[in-house]
Amino acid sequence: MKVLVTGGAGYIGSHTLVALLAAGHEVCVFDNFSNSSPVALARVRQLTNRDIRLVEADICNGDALMQATTEFRPDAVIHFAGLKAVGESSENPLLYYANNVAGSVNLLAAMDAAECHRIIFSSSATVYGRAQYLPFDEQHPVHPTNPYGRTKAIVEELIRDWAAAHPTASAVLLRYFNPVGAHDSGLIGEDPRDIPNNLMPFVAQVAVGRRTSLAIFGDDYNTRDGTGERDYIHVVDLANAHLAALDYSEKGPCCEVVNVGTGRGITVKELVAAYERACGRNIPAQIAPRRPGDVASSYAATAKAERLLGWRAALDIDAMCTSSWRWQSNNIEGYGDASAG
Ligand code: NAD
Ligand code: UD1
Repeated sequence: MKVLVTGGAGYIGSHTLVALLAAGHEVCVFDNFSNSSPVALARVRQLTNRDIRLVEADICNGDALMQATTEFRPDAVIHFAGLKAVGESSENPLLYYANNVAGSVNLLAAMDAAECHRIIFSSSATVYGRAQYLPFDEQHPVHPTNPYGRTKAIVEELIRDWAAAHPTASAVLLRYFNPVGAHDSGLIGEDPRDIPNNLMPFVAQVAVGRRTSLAIFGDDYNTRDGTGERDYIHVVDLANAHLAALDYSEKGPCCEVVNVGTGRGITVKELVAAYERACGRNIPAQIAPRRPGDVASSYAATAKAERLLGWRAALDIDAMCTSSWRWQSNNIEGYGDASAG
């Protein structure tokens, strides 16, 4: 199948490319490298020994998207491109609405022009907001608490309306929980540009000596050990969920929202202990105040993914930490370590 992958050079996109190419699909990446490096694509080529078409452009540029879809003529699109920093989305909401919402409108119009009506979209568990009950199932009310989350909820609605207007459309809206880890080769992984907002990349940078210690945001939550509990999902499992979603979308018209998680919560302290086992080093950490907006616990109900997609997570927290450590210790400065190409 021919798959257009927006944001394919990014963290989740690059891992999904490896899975797509291994499964024999032909890909075209559409990315402006605003939060990624061309080195990631060179590494994917190295890992798969396959060529990757690249269109270096912005999804805010509707003409460039239109040209990409009408030239490549994809059978399906996987739409990763977007901005994802929660704090930045509150400081600059218009940037998030322009990239995530208007960019998605451009993409759907470009798909229409090329008569492609199959899309897999990167949504987020952040659309649920504060838990009314756990685990989060797909029926849980959607109440995002920040502009980033609202852009994801709006694009879900946008795709629903677009799919309803096309009798043959298939759309799978994947709500990712907390993607972490790296490809086992250690060649590709998560490479945040600034100070990491998320726990695992921060821990990885402490382990490798780029940062001195971890601040644990609160130890007085109502959880096993008082620290925040999340559903970490190995990025390789997540990449495979996209293949399963593509297969599902081929069966016939649909528009489905599906959680992608393990169903299991891990606390901050448990994750740090697992990382220490993986790297054989001590991770210095101190307790700090709670981070505003954080919730105690978040984890997925996974039954729908199993039933609809026939997919379930296979890799545990030790595999997530071991692979993250392999990537981080081999690439201390991320892709910045590599000479281009
Ligand atoms: P990432 O930043 O590593 O990848 C996003 C890619 O999109 C990057 O290569 C970036 O250069 C590209 N991009 C961004 N804006 C663009 C634009 N306007 N035009 C063209 N390309 C653009 O992020 P990721 O972690 O791989 O996330 C991928 C998707 O999954 C995002 O939509 C994100 O919101 C969503 N998501 C991520 C997480 C997570 O924790 N990583 C969780 C839930 C959902
Ligand atoms: C964050 C985003 C969420 C996004 C998700 C994607 C916020 C407020 N929320 O959520 O929108 O969907 O990432 O993966 O940014 N922690 C520390 N120290 C740190 C960093 C984190 O103790 O330096 C704790 C947090 O308090 C939390 C846990 O680690 O309990 C996980 O944090 P993080 O990786 O940021 O993920 P989320 O909070 O789920």
